[in-house]
Amino acid sequence: MAGEIALFYGTFKGTTRRVARQIAHELGESHVDLYDIKDGGEAMSRYGRLIIGTSTWSIGALQEDWDRFLPRLQSLDLNGKVVALFGTGDQVGYPDTFLDGMGMLFETFQYRGARFVGFWPTQGYNFTSPLPILDHDHFVGLAIDEDNQAELTAGRIKRWCEMIRPALGLGATS
Ligand SMILES: Cc1cc2nc3c(=O)[nH]c(=O)nc-3n(C[C@H](O)[C@H](O)[C@H](O)COP(=O)(O)O)c2cc1C
Repeated sequence: MAGEIALFYGTFKGTTRRVARQIAHELGESHVDLYDIKDGGEAMSRYGRLIIGTSTWSIGALQEDWDRFLPRLQSLDLNGKVVALFGTGDQVGYPDTFLDGMGMLFETFQYRGARFVGFWPTQGYNFTSPLPILDHDHFVGLAIDEDNQAELTAGRIKRWCEMIRPALGLGATS
């Protein structure tokens, strides 16, 4: 445990890992400890501030390593932990289930008492899935679509990181 923030991600083909690394880079690598959830999530309880990322597979299914970890997550007390979510998906191929995995993690973490930050505007996306939606105008976390909008990813990450820095206890960048 070197940083004060833990980032847990689940990935199948590596997209979510790449996004996770970009987020850590933006926030400052010394502040963020990266964990692949397939190696276990036991360290989660040691941190007060968490960044949680997942892709969606099989038409609306949570990434499989997250899915495997869920029973253990149910027993963790996440009360008061600050959580920022991000999801990777494909809004053109899977508009009805776009980012469902992120929506599922939102529900699970919310139920365990987490406090969320980093809600992200839905403007600029085209999809119909209700699960990753917080309210009319916002996702529950950062929405990344490397399949169709890869050129927007770096800018989205940068803006989102600026947005969540204060809630994660990091100062603004100069
Ligand atoms: C068979 C298949 C099913 C998919 N299902 C969904 C889906 O239901 N919703 C979604 O948003 N993306 C879906 N995707 C897109 C992936 O989530 C997307 O490519 C993501 O970036 C993969 O990230 P990963 O490599 O980190 O797992 C699917 C992709 C494939 C090939």
